[in-house]
Amino acid sequence: MTFVRQTTRISTNSQRSLVSGGNPRPKTVQDVFHRAIHDLRISVIDRCNFRCTYCMPEEEYARHYQFLKKEEWLSFGEILRVTKLFLEIGVNKVRLTGGEPLLRPDLAELIQELSRFEQIDDLALTTNGSLLAPQAKTLKAAGLQRLTVSLDTLHDEIFRKMSGTRVPVAQVLKGIEEAQRVGFQDIKINVVVQKGINDHTILDLVRFFKGTGHILRFIEYMDVGNCNHWTSEFVVPSSELYRRINEVFPLRLIKPNYHGEVASRYQFEDGGGEIGFISSVTQPFCGSCTRARLSTDGKIYTCLFSGQGTDLRTPLRAGASDQELLAMIKDIWKKRDDRYSENRFLLSSRQEKPLKKVEMFQIGG
Ligand code: GTP
Ligand code: 5AD
Ligand code: SF4
Ligand code: SF4
Repeated sequence: MTFVRQTTRISTNSQRSLVSGGNPRPKTVQDVFHRAIHDLRISVIDRCNFRCTYCMPEEEYARHYQFLKKEEWLSFGEILRVTKLFLEIGVNKVRLTGGEPLLRPDLAELIQELSRFEQIDDLALTTNGSLLAPQAKTLKAAGLQRLTVSLDTLHDEIFRKMSGTRVPVAQVLKGIEEAQRVGFQDIKINVVVQKGINDHTILDLVRFFKGTGHILRFIEYMDVGNCNHWTSEFVVPSSELYRRINEVFPLRLIKPNYHGEVASRYQFEDGGGEIGFISSVTQPFCGSCTRARLSTDGKIYTCLFSGQGTDLRTPLRAGASDQELLAMIKDIWKKRDDRYSENRFLLSSRQEKPLKKVEMFQIGG
């Protein structure tokens, strides 16, 4: 079998989405391409204890980056208020991100409050795993439902170079193990793959995680932000990774869990579990993109590759009513026409200067 991803491209002619199975609930708000909003990804802190070369390389940050000051962060109360408004227009999935979200003090308190919203069917968090072992139990008890841990390789030296940290791989593995022990199931392990850097180590990851119940997902290295100085030479297409894995461990395509799922899912034919491929570069999935992102300082971004967000914090702190804020949010979504990944190569070939884009650690993955 060859590598397949069921993509949903946006039609340029009719401006109608080819979204299959898109049957938005009545209250959902749709964007220009008829994409309903379903997911809110909340970045709770822009700091991180790692310096991944593809996200916040040390050379860039050591010198000139000013992280947000505490008073610039949305408070938990403010995050909850904004979330509640998003729930009114159809959001039912919430993911907490960073930077590294486990650096945000008292995060479990926010999770506990979020878990009280009955409209949220899925409450998840993405972490680099380094601080997970001591926090896993508290996170679970607070009501966190799912976890995604980033881990690009099992080789300490390569891991050190990619993540810019002295944290050993074993510490991340300990976090994953502890999370499983306290009851998290189907933990996802995100692997950003870069040619010549870690792509020769992917089979080790597959061997290690196969049969554990964890779900490995290989992500094509993306041109998020500006500071990673992305070039396409470092991208390994998912089709290539699929070929390499399938040769050793035969795979079978399985159906998405939900409409618009980012990863294409495969099962090991021998029953060893599931893996996924996230192919934003070679097989974009903008046609079914239902995600909005809220930055630590209260800006809404409607695309991972946006140049700028819309500031909600200023009106929020100036005393805007829920109705006024809701009107703003609806308006942002209704005007949304993002589909960067579908136009990536066209856009970049037209630009004399690189497009200014928000950095990954400012809005999470
Ligand atoms: P679940 O399917 O709910 O488990 O989550 P998910 O697939 O949204 O997973 P996650 O948040 O871990 O996303 C995985 C990675 O996919 C992110 O770290 C990004 O690298 C990439 N990704 C997620 N959403 C988008 C998106 O909207 N656009 C692009 N281009 N990439 C995305
Ligand atoms: N390309 C692909 N994935 C990225 N991530 C961060 N930067 C990039 C990039 N340039 C992923 C990390 C993590 C999540 C927060 O985003 O691996 O899983
Ligand atoms: Fe930190 Fe995640 Fe960015 Fe790495 S990818 S520097 S772990 S926020
Ligand atoms: Fe959504 Fe933008 Fe990613 Fe396309 S590039 S899937 S519009 S976040």
